[in-house]
Order: sequence, then structure tokens, then C-alpha cells
Amino acid sequence: MSTTSSARITGTGSFVPSRVLTNHDLERMVDTSDEWILERTGIRERRIASDDQAASDLAFEASVRALEDAGLEARELDAILVATVTGDHLFPSTGCILQERLGARNAFAYDFAAACSGFLFGLTQARAFVLSGYCSRVLVVGVEMLSKLVDWTDRNTCVLFGDGAGAAIIEAGPPGILAVRVHCDGSMADIISLPAGGSRMPITPELIAERKNRIQMRGNETFKLAVKAMESVLLEVVEEAGIRQSDIDLLIPHQANMRIIQALGKRLEVPEDRVYVNVDRYGNTSAATIPIAIDEARRSGRVGPGSLVVVAAFGSGATWGAAVVRL
Ligand code: ACO
Repeated sequence: MSTTSSARITGTGSFVPSRVLTNHDLERMVDTSDEWILERTGIRERRIASDDQAASDLAFEASVRALEDAGLEARELDAILVATVTGDHLFPSTGCILQERLGARNAFAYDFAAACSGFLFGLTQARAFVLSGYCSRVLVVGVEMLSKLVDWTDRNTCVLFGDGAGAAIIEAGPPGILAVRVHCDGSMADIISLPAGGSRMPITPELIAERKNRIQMRGNETFKLAVKAMESVLLEVVEEAGIRQSDIDLLIPHQANMRIIQALGKRLEVPEDRVYVNVDRYGNTSAATIPIAIDEARRSGRVGPGSLVVVAAFGSGATWGAAVVRL
């Protein structure tokens, strides 16, 4: 086992289900309007999985693309780290299901829950594994299928989320992941949660009737905390990486709300054309927003080798984090 001084992203992939649910479709389901959703969130449409699709199906497609992009075979992977709060089952892990499906027989695999910040927690772990020499090739996946856990009668939450998966391969080598930081504060655990279904509140018919097995969110509070926390951790990684804000080629904030994205761009003084937005097409895909955005930006040529990409996320926990990546 030999240590190395830098780890980098060598391949990316993403996948979203084909079914599109527009704001106009939602107008027929709950008391809402296209204008309200667009003005308050920037979302126009989102992708929704079919009844027979599970998180591992989306994760598989994104992973195959990331492996192909990196020029690797699945059996060359040492580890598969899956960020998700909507895995196929409570157990076994979606990571193990994905490992089998990919044929990544030499990789260990596991899931972890950091909600919308999950990909950044995965990047932190993958980078540490690679720098320490414990792993040579790590697949990090952010996948969510929140459509199966939202309350489709609650207009406060059901308009916000979509399904999707993004994946990245991390290997040793420069230029690399220049800085990555993650944080959490469990005192904010109740601002976004899914109360029933775990050992604290096993599901009962009464809890189902009370919709305790569905996402609950105090949106307005989350909004303010998200802006503050992401701004602070972004400044932290910018300083740690030793870059100037004017050097940033692309800022990718968590895609939860257009107003949060714009606020962060302004606070970091990054011009609008260098702030990535796809929340209009996918809504909030939680742990998948960052890897989907990185993959889209690379494949569309918006960024390329040498580009400086800065990402940030905030989610349930509360969890938050940011990274500076030289592609
Ligand atoms: N259509 C019409 N009206 C609505 C809708 C809707 N879909 N949803 C809420 N409203 C109403 C509310 O009932 C409220 O009405 P009232 O004043 O009569 O009570 C009014 O609109 C304003 O509600 P607010 O919650 O104050 O609206 P806000 O401007 O804060 O927007 C939103 C809500 C979009 C949820 C915003 O707060 C937000 O994006 N929050 C951040 C979400 C986020 O970042 N999540 C990240 C983590 S998610 C995770 O980890 C899984």
C-alpha cells in the first residue's frame, strides 16, 4: 500500500428516468400552479421513475457510463460508495446490489446517508481511500428515488423532487480534488426528515395514515440555513485550495432551488454564466444533483481538462459540504 498526494475524477456518468412530470401535470394533482413553482423554485419539470424501477437501476446505468468514460472494467474497482436515502431496501445495501450487477467482484461496497450532501461525503471518503493507498479505483454514486417517498398530496414537498443518479470514478493522480470539506449539525435533524420506517418509529397503519412515512420539510427554514451553510463551506474550500473566486470556471451549487443557486453565485461573486443550473429540468434529485451536473457539464463541453469546478450541497441531517476540483 503506497500513499499518493492527489486524487482526481477520471470518469463520470449520469442517468435519469424517461418519464417527465411537468408543473402543469402537478396542477392536476395538488393545489399549485406552474407560476408558483417556477417563481419560488425555478423548476419546470422533473423525472419520475416507473413502478418497477428502483435506485440500483438508475445507479447501474450511471455507473456503466462512468466506467466507460474512465476506460475501466468493473472488475478493476476496489470500492463502490453509494450515497442514498432512497436505496432499494433498508438492507442489503444498494452498493452490494450494484456491485453484483456491475460484476465488480473485487470491490467492497456500502451505502451511507447524508441526503442531498451525500455525493460530497462520498468524494471525501473516496479521496481518503485513494490518498492512503488503500484503494486505487473508487466508484462514488449519488442516487435518489424520492418520488417513492414524497407525499403526493402535500404541495409543500411533492413539487420539489425528482429521481436520478450520477457517478464518478476517483483514481490517483494530479491535478485532482484540491479541497473537500463536509460538516453536519444533528441539532437540525428535524428540518427535513422521514420520521417512520426505521427503528425509532416502525411503520404501523396509524403512522401511514398520518403520512409519517413520507418526507416532511420546513422549507423556509431549510432555505435560509442552506444558503448560509453552503456560503460558509464554499469560502472554506476556496481558501484551502488556495484559489481566487475569479478563477472558478464553473460553480455547481446543489440543485434544490433556483433562488438558492443565484444567491450563492452572487455571494461568491461568480458571474451567472459560470453558475450551473439544471434544477429547471430535474428538480431536486438530492444526492444525485452534483454528480449529474458535473457529468452534464463535462459531456456538453462546458468544462474540460484543466477546468476549475467548485461544488456545494446542503441536506437533511443537517449535512453540508463543498469541494474544489481541477478536472
Ligand atoms: N404551490 C402553491 N403554494 C404553495 C406551494 C405550492 N407547491 N407550496 C407551498 N405553498 C404555499 C404555502 O402553503 C404558503 O402559503 P401560506 O403563506 O398561505 O401559508 C406559501 O406558499 C409560502 O410558503 P413558504 O414555505 O414560505 O414558501 P418559500 O418561498 O419558502 O418556498 C420552498 C418554499 C420552495 C420549499 C423553499 O423554501 C425551498 O426551496 N426551501 C429549500 C429546500 C431545500 O434546499 N432542500 C434541500 C435539502 S432536501 C433533502 O435533503 C432531501
